[in-house]
Formats: sequence, C-alpha cells, structure tokens
Amino acid sequence: MTITEATIKEALGKVVDPMLGQDIVTYRVYRTAEIQGDDVLVRLDIPTHAYPNTARRELIVRVETAVKALGAKRVTVIADVVTAFIPPPSDKAMLKGPKNVIAVAAGKGGVGKSTVAVNLALALQRHGAKVGLLDADVFGPSIPTMLGAPEVPPSATKDSRITPAIHHGLKVISVGFFVDKGEAVVWRGPMVHRLLQQFLGDVDWGDLDYLICDLPPGTGDVQLSLSQLIPIAGSVMVTTPQEVSIVDVVKGIAMFEKVEIPILGIVENMSYYKCPACGHHDEIFSHGGGKRLAQEVGATFFGEIPIDTRIRFGGDSGMPIVIGSPDSENAELFMKLATSAAIKLAGNILSKPKRSPRLAVIK
Ligand SMILES: Nc1ncnc2c1ncn2[C@@H]1O[C@H](COP(=O)(O)OP(=O)(O)OP(=O)(O)O)[C@@H](O)[C@H]1O
Ligand SMILES: [Mg+2]
Repeated sequence: MTITEATIKEALGKVVDPMLGQDIVTYRVYRTAEIQGDDVLVRLDIPTHAYPNTARRELIVRVETAVKALGAKRVTVIADVVTAFIPPPSDKAMLKGPKNVIAVAAGKGGVGKSTVAVNLALALQRHGAKVGLLDADVFGPSIPTMLGAPEVPPSATKDSRITPAIHHGLKVISVGFFVDKGEAVVWRGPMVHRLLQQFLGDVDWGDLDYLICDLPPGTGDVQLSLSQLIPIAGSVMVTTPQEVSIVDVVKGIAMFEKVEIPILGIVENMSYYKCPACGHHDEIFSHGGGKRLAQEVGATFFGEIPIDTRIRFGGDSGMPIVIGSPDSENAELFMKLATSAAIKLAGNILSKPKRSPRLAVIK
C-alpha cells in the first residue's frame, strides 16, 4: 500500500492523545505529514507547555507505531508546543497579547485564591509557558506582597500605556502598585469597570500563553466587569474542606455559568496537615469536601493541597513555594495542578471546531 497524507491522517485519527483522551486528528494535535519514499515526518502541535514529558514520549511512540503499521521504514515525529487558544470575538478584543485568561476564584475570602493564583502562574512558567498575573482583587490586593520586590517595577510610557512589573519572570499588574499599602480601597462599580478596562487594554502585556487573574472573593463587580470586557477561557475554583465554604463555591459556580465563564475544575486547599516531624496526617477542617462538590456539580477535581508552613511563608516572604522550595512535594502538587488546568482548558478549546476566518464581503 502506498503511504499518502490521507492514509496517514486516517491512521492517526485512531491514535488517542494520552492527556486529552481523544484522537489527535479531531483534536488538532496532528498538524502535517511529509512523505519521502519510505520515510515519514509527522509534525504535532502539543497544545500546552504544561503537557508532561512522559505523556509526550508516549504520544510519539503511538504515532510512530501507527505510521510504521502503514509500511513506513523510518518515522520522525516533531512535537512543538503551540498553545491552544480561541481568538476573542471583535466586541471583546481589548486584551492584546495574552492567549488565554484563567481566573482563580472562590465564593469565600481567605481560602487561598491568591496563593493558588501565584503558584499556578509560576508553575505554568516553570513548565515553559509565558505567563502574566493580573491582581484583579482591587479591594484587597495581595499579589505585590506575595511576590516580593519586583525585578522591574511597573512604569508608564509617554503615550499613557502601562508596562507591567516583572516578578520572578512573571509580568504582573496590581492596584497595589498604585495605591498606598493599607489604604482602604473603596471602589464603586463604574470605577472598578474603568480600572479593569485600563489593566486589560492599556497594559502592554506582550505575547503571553496565559494571563492568570486573581479575583476577590464572591461574585461582584470585578467578576461581572471582567466577563463583560474579555473572554475568560476558564476558572479554577478554590475551596476549603468545610461545608460553609462549599456552599459558597456552589453559588460562585452558578454565577460564573450565568456570565459564561467555564469552570475548569476545583482545587481543595488546606486539605490536611502532614506533620513534618513525625509524618502524622491530620484533617483539621475535615476532608473530601472539594471532591464531593466536584462530583455534585459535574466539575473536574484537580486535587488537594495541604496546609504547609512553607506555603504560608512563601506567600509572606515574596518567594512562593513553587520557586522557593521547587523540589518539595507541595511545589510538585502545584506543578500538577498547572498541568491539569492547562490540559482541561486545551481540551475545552480543541473539542470545538476551529472557527474559520470570516470572509470579507466586498460591496
Ligand atoms: N495550603 C496552605 N498552607 C498554609 N497556608 C496557606 C495555604 N494556603 C493559603 N495559606 C495562607 O492563608 C492565608 C490566606 O491565603 P490567601 O491570601 O491566598 O487567600 P485568599 O483566598 O486570596 O484571601 P482573600 O479572600 O483575602 O483574597 C495566607 O496567609 C496564605 O499564606
Ligand atoms: Mg486574595
């Protein structure tokens, strides 16, 4: 049988991506094949930098096996990361540069949204992605404290554009840069809207794979304005194991669904405490609420993050655990969270047929 692009495409249509769980043709992981006699070169688009290396090797083996079964002698697979994203519709196109906006949200205060947001951003960056962090908690910005002194402070250009600060390689914008620490910020709805408009439209974010948005607790002006201004690709909901927090998350999910922000999944923070001295495992706030909640609302459960002094210290000292103790078990949990969220997001995007560019109508 002669090998053609069509027979290769047909064979690869039966190859399942180990992370996405779907075939690589429908999900556009397969890009092209070049055939020269018995040699075949297959190019793949890995949809996120957070795709694990073990899965990438497995995917390459599956592709090689499928193409060799067609009679190819030598198969070369080139797998480049091409971050999956959906270009914004024209009425929500003010944000230039970031491909995907991921919001970190919770129904309640103090559950660890900002902690998850900074560590998720740094974990995606450690995986190799270009990442920005928008502190959208205009009422209680904590990102500047959590990330410490910037390598490069934010600045304004002559034409009133804002250049974001750089912290540990992340591009960061926070209202905390522009108001005095401790100053109670009382923003009303229209002011919140204008401020976010500026943070999204007037900031030179540059080319980013992900912009992580740390949200204030609950469902108020910030959530509403953001969803009106830009497409939010998905949200990571943070909960603690107690019942009260879970009730709040259910409310948050309902609101997010109303404003068309897809929930990528739920992470349970402060799940348990493992004593570093004796290894004793203690479930201080009970256990398993996040998982139960995810099942109830049909969301993906991203896992549990324990209470860890180094997580708290990392947030207070400007050196979040993902970079402060990069080899620790809990830094690894954040790396896995980043993979789960990025894969879930890529799966959502790739499950939809690619929007064809609109043809210009010539009158
Ligand atoms: N897994 C954890 N282990 C230990 N401390 C944690 C953990 N997660 C968060 N913390 C600590 O709990 C406090 C609250 O966390 P954080 O500020 O991230 O919550 P938040 O939901 O963003 O709060 P807010 O609603 O005020 O914005 C911080 O001091 C943080 O360092
Ligand atoms: Mg916070």
